[in-house]
Amino acid sequence: MPKSAFKQQQNATPIDAEAVLAWYDAHARTLPWRVSSTDRARGIRPDPYRVWLSEIMLQQTTVAAVGKYFARFTSLWPTIADLAAAPLEAVLVEWAGLGYYARARNLHACAVAIMHEHGGRFPATSAQLLGLPGIGAYTSAAIAAIADDEPIAVVDGNVDRVLARYLALHVPVRAAKDAIRRAVQQSVPERAGDFAQALMDLGATICTPRAALCMLCPLQPGCMGARENPLAYPLKLEKAERPTRFGHAFVLLDTDGDVYLQTRAEKGLLAKMTETPGSTWMGAVTEPQFPVPAQWRSRGEVIHVFTHFRLQLQVWSATVSDRSSLTTGWWADPEELAAEALPSLFRKVLAAAGLD
Ligand code: ADE
Repeated sequence: MPKSAFKQQQNATPIDAEAVLAWYDAHARTLPWRVSSTDRARGIRPDPYRVWLSEIMLQQTTVAAVGKYFARFTSLWPTIADLAAAPLEAVLVEWAGLGYYARARNLHACAVAIMHEHGGRFPATSAQLLGLPGIGAYTSAAIAAIADDEPIAVVDGNVDRVLARYLALHVPVRAAKDAIRRAVQQSVPERAGDFAQALMDLGATICTPRAALCMLCPLQPGCMGARENPLAYPLKLEKAERPTRFGHAFVLLDTDGDVYLQTRAEKGLLAKMTETPGSTWMGAVTEPQFPVPAQWRSRGEVIHVFTHFRLQLQVWSATVSDRSSLTTGWWADPEELAAEALPSLFRKVLAAAGLD
């Protein structure tokens, strides 16, 4: 596209916020941290603690997957004070399965910081929120908009896609971040929180990665993408191939059926979480170096996809009659694995060995 056309796009007509809000009033998803637009109009405000918790969890996974974690966290720790007072270990146990465990540590650190440095109240502005543990530009904007109607653009991956289509951006989203933010910022109405959530819902339900239900979309009249082929946007970048790493996982059982677990290293991927013993993960298949001599039995393969690589683990299990050579970890009752801070990868390993 010629430069001048891109300039024009950057100054594109802002979004019809009124139409977006009317759509939201009729079609918003009911979510446990949300206050409906009717209740909001009656003066009921969202609880910033619940908004924050949901935003941190939603950085990991989909709305559908967050549901049960959100319910569990808010029943165990209904307020920020409860979460701050909880042991970090308990928070990690409940977070297990969501991934990116640094986020759970930051979640806890943020709760403590809000108790100690902000008198137990969430700061009301994005500027004050920014820089608290785990709160970056997106999250500070989302919390301030949703909880306090701060007139600020909230742009997540869904909103990027909606806007890339709306503006028919002929550049990859990464190059158009500023243009997208500007278009959203120029459009933010008084009901900033509902507007932010409406755009997210549009991206999640109407203008999805694989479909564009333009006939249901309140943005259709002004949408440049809808005039051509909306699915052609956002422009795709060639994806770098994700490398594969290989390794072995060892599931050790004692004669009572208890399973041997240990704590991962202080630093690196899944730091300080619970694991089954295993080899280092290498760029090529290696021979297994079993941790103790035993009748090792192959239990198949587990594949797990991390952000930067794909992991292929051969799972082995054995029963040991003498526990004394294994001293750095602990033996866990398979009935009580839910109480362990076990990332999904190791739950898959245990499942492959018949423990789930
Ligand atoms: N994704 C991230 N935050 C969200 C929210 N508040 N509502 C719906 N989807 C979201």
